[in-house]
Amino acid sequence: MAEVMTGLKRTHYCGEPRLSDVGKEVVVCGWAQRQRDLGQLIFIDLRDRTGIIQLAFDDHTDKEIFGKAFGVRAEFVLAAKGVVRERSSKNKEIPTGEVEIEVTDLRVLSKSETPPFEITEDSKVKEELRLKYRYLDLRRPDVQDKIIARHKIVKIARDYFDQNGFVEVETPILIKSTPEGARDYLVPSRVFPGSFFALPQSPQLYKQLTMLAGFDRYMQIARCFRDEDLRADRQPEFTQIDLEMSFIDEEDIMSMAEGFVKTVYKEVLDVEIQTPFPRMTYAEGMERFGSDKPDLRFGYELKNLTEVLKGTEFRVFAGAVSAGGSVRGINVKGGACYTRKEIDKLAEWVKAYGAKGLAWTKLNQDGSSSSSYEKFLKEEEAAGVRSALEAENGDLLFLVASDKPQVVFDTLGALRCECARQMGIIDESRPNLLWITDFPLFEYDEEEGRFVAKHHPFTHPNDEDLEQLETNPGAVRARAYDMVLNGNEVGGGSIRINDPALQQRMFKALGFTQEEAQERFGFLIDAFRYGAPPHGGMAFGLDRLVMLMLGCDSIRDVIAYPKVANSGELMTASPAPVDQKQLDELGISINLQEETKE
Ligand code: AMO
Repeated sequence: MAEVMTGLKRTHYCGEPRLSDVGKEVVVCGWAQRQRDLGQLIFIDLRDRTGIIQLAFDDHTDKEIFGKAFGVRAEFVLAAKGVVRERSSKNKEIPTGEVEIEVTDLRVLSKSETPPFEITEDSKVKEELRLKYRYLDLRRPDVQDKIIARHKIVKIARDYFDQNGFVEVETPILIKSTPEGARDYLVPSRVFPGSFFALPQSPQLYKQLTMLAGFDRYMQIARCFRDEDLRADRQPEFTQIDLEMSFIDEEDIMSMAEGFVKTVYKEVLDVEIQTPFPRMTYAEGMERFGSDKPDLRFGYELKNLTEVLKGTEFRVFAGAVSAGGSVRGINVKGGACYTRKEIDKLAEWVKAYGAKGLAWTKLNQDGSSSSSYEKFLKEEEAAGVRSALEAENGDLLFLVASDKPQVVFDTLGALRCECARQMGIIDESRPNLLWITDFPLFEYDEEEGRFVAKHHPFTHPNDEDLEQLETNPGAVRARAYDMVLNGNEVGGGSIRINDPALQQRMFKALGFTQEEAQERFGFLIDAFRYGAPPHGGMAFGLDRLVMLMLGCDSIRDVIAYPKVANSGELMTASPAPVDQKQLDELGISINLQEETKE
């Protein structure tokens, strides 16, 4: 039978007692980390959110209490009363290690079956098992610390933006479906059978309307939902620190955001961040690093070899160049230590980025070299490549050719990061922050055969490029900016369109007829007729920011109840089928294809 706490009121957390408390009577509560039975002597390590304290039972202990201590197993929930005393053998590893509690009363408040894994820091347990029993996983101090750090970061965000005059406004979770980039999560309506709400991919339209409503500065810790394929830094349900400001330009938003990052790093990690952050245009990011979120903590910059190789007869390179593509390369300094097997593995790995192959040259320390392509090149071409890549003995060169320039950028952009990681040359001691600016306004969607908004349809075009909106949309730049932290996009935003006529031009460029635009975004178009201030904003990916600040590998580490790769949640086994009655009420019938059923 579980006991009750009557008569015992907690006076201290487990992590609190110190030498200065010796002689005090205290009451502590928590989970038994472990029980050690030394015959005449029993020790129990009691754990709560704050730490661990040792409970001691010996021949002075009441027999009944001693008997209870004897029966305690891992993860039993206990309340203990006793007197703090100095330990004879001290434990320097924990802050309470100089003292213990000589127990005079013990209650077993709840028993525990043997847990599926031991609740200790850094225990090597498969993630699947950890997430199925997430409430046990979350008892582990290192896991708990990350969630508590996240809480602090959110608190600092609220305080910082409050001090800067921002008002937190909650926007709805059930909204109209206006799919932009990702797929929407839909919620059927019972009252309007056959109609659906969508869960917001972000509060974008509402925060703009909040500017029209005159709130001037908006922020929200906003939950967002996107039905897209997951990656290590992506969840279908995630949180943004979302901002919007009126009567401002890019500079105001960027310096406000930099101020927040500076504050949060100082307060959480005691790290000084220099502001303003460096800036780089999207075009430069692509050309030099193959990425719109370049990691500048190491070199391995991309070099365009198209000119050097324009006359080559080697089919792989010549084909890419003549089809309007490019050949580019990187020099992995000191990379000659890679074995053939390791190079082959990378050649396999790059296929995920669309590259058909990976050409390489290894320049050994002794001056000899081996290469997958030099034998197909003229001597001066091979020398030209080496020279363009500033190759020296000990280096490893990688070349990628494709008729699609983006494939070359994506492949080499990812490869330089992977090689830097493998070579162990990334300086993790300091965060690397920068802004990427001058994004293209549109990108061409091959599948849809039309231009789509790179950011979203409300982003203001760069004024200098406005006249090309209809004639050369691919060349129009956006007044958009992303914040990059250690090679990850940690936030992004833009100045918005506040002129209804320009918004109409934008919809037209995106291929919407006036009727379609009215049907989808009518409420917004109408709103802009009633006085729209110039405005703009951005959103930080909170989960990503926390993940990067705490040096975690996975976004799941900083989310209390995350989803796994197939977007399901293991602890509650959701999503799950629902009752026929619920479906009937919604007028929904399920019509699964055979393959989806499996
Ligand atoms: P965007 O789509 O760039 O902009 O999102 C802003 C930031 O949110 C984070 N993020 C994600 N984090 C985890 N999982 C995901 N699936 C995910 N998707 C995005 C990224 C990203 O930089 N409304 C605009 C902002 C604006 O214009 O003000 C928006 O949502 O860190």
